[in-house]
Amino acid sequence: MSLTRRQVLKGSAALTAAGMLGIPPLRAQTELIKKPIPKTGELIPVIGIGTNRYGVDAVEEQLAPLRETLKKFRELGGTVIDTAPAYRNSEAVLGDLIDGLGIRDDLFMATKCNMQTQEQSATQMEESVARLKWDVIDLMQVHNLMGWDGQLPAMREWKAAGRLRYYGVTTSQTQQHELLAKLMQEQELDFIQVNYSLGDRAAAEKILPLAADKGLGVFINVPLGRGSLFGNVGQRPLPEWAAEFDCKSWGQFFLKYIVSHPAVTVAIPGTRKPQHAEDNLGAAMGRLPDAAMRKRMEDFIDSV
Ligand SMILES: NC(=O)c1ccc[n+]([C@@H]2O[C@H](COP(=O)([O-])OP(=O)(O)OC[C@H]3O[C@@H](n4cnc5c(N)ncnc54)[C@H](OP(=O)(O)O)[C@@H]3O)[C@@H](O)[C@H]2O)c1
Repeated sequence: MSLTRRQVLKGSAALTAAGMLGIPPLRAQTELIKKPIPKTGELIPVIGIGTNRYGVDAVEEQLAPLRETLKKFRELGGTVIDTAPAYRNSEAVLGDLIDGLGIRDDLFMATKCNMQTQEQSATQMEESVARLKWDVIDLMQVHNLMGWDGQLPAMREWKAAGRLRYYGVTTSQTQQHELLAKLMQEQELDFIQVNYSLGDRAAAEKILPLAADKGLGVFINVPLGRGSLFGNVGQRPLPEWAAEFDCKSWGQFFLKYIVSHPAVTVAIPGTRKPQHAEDNLGAAMGRLPDAAMRKRMEDFIDSV
């Protein structure tokens, strides 16, 4: 695996700064579980952040909680952020907040494209780079599979030119899984992004095994059922056996189920509160459920 210039600079800057301060580098302080990106072996933490509600007005009252969330996320070792031009002004908000916090170099930035033609896609990707103030986009994705035949050639060109590192396709709708599977079979891709949660397990039937078979990285969107899973369990206490996989909250219960699937690389819960970032990153710590425990979790959620 060859490291990019940015990765080398990232690594040496972190080591130097930490060495000067006499503290171990951040990586050594945190114990987040990481998984390898299948195409390269690059390790990324299994919990990221989804930002489809980061499109806020430029007023401090709305920006402050998002800034605090990103700060907490990064302090605890989180790196993966998922966004899109379709999420109102989320890209611009992220670009500004990340700059202000000075955390750019440690992040893995995934965004999307929703254009039709190759030319339109290249223009939109330029706009994303400008809004995010990014150097090389880590992951560029076809949003909702729309216009994939125009977008993929643009993404391949950008990857060949070193302007993005990985590319792939996304959906959050089960009725699109058939088209998703077809693209996974026929197109050269690095990643897919798909809906999967304890309350929505269809992806486990065909999509996740196919991703493993094809060696694709997997982002999981709507991992909390857009928050509805919390409503399903209501005020119930966690089952005692949740302690057997170091689970301290319902959020961790839902997320540990996802990231313990062998084909899943990262789950990206939508997160706008620092306490949610902290809770969710707890799902990337300690033990994960094994296959028998995952079945028990499914039976439990089906019974509530
Ligand atoms: N086709 C696509 O490509 C596609 C489609 C849909 C979504 N996505 C991506 O997937 C991401 C996740 O989807 P989503 O945000 O719609 O749904 P989600 O992650 O399933 O749920 C988000 C909701 O759960 C809440 N939450 C998060 N952590 C929590 C915790 N620990 N305890 C209690 N509540 C918690 C959030 O509240 P707060 O916001 O207040 O923290 C928010 O209301 C999106 O942000 C986006 O990046 C992609």
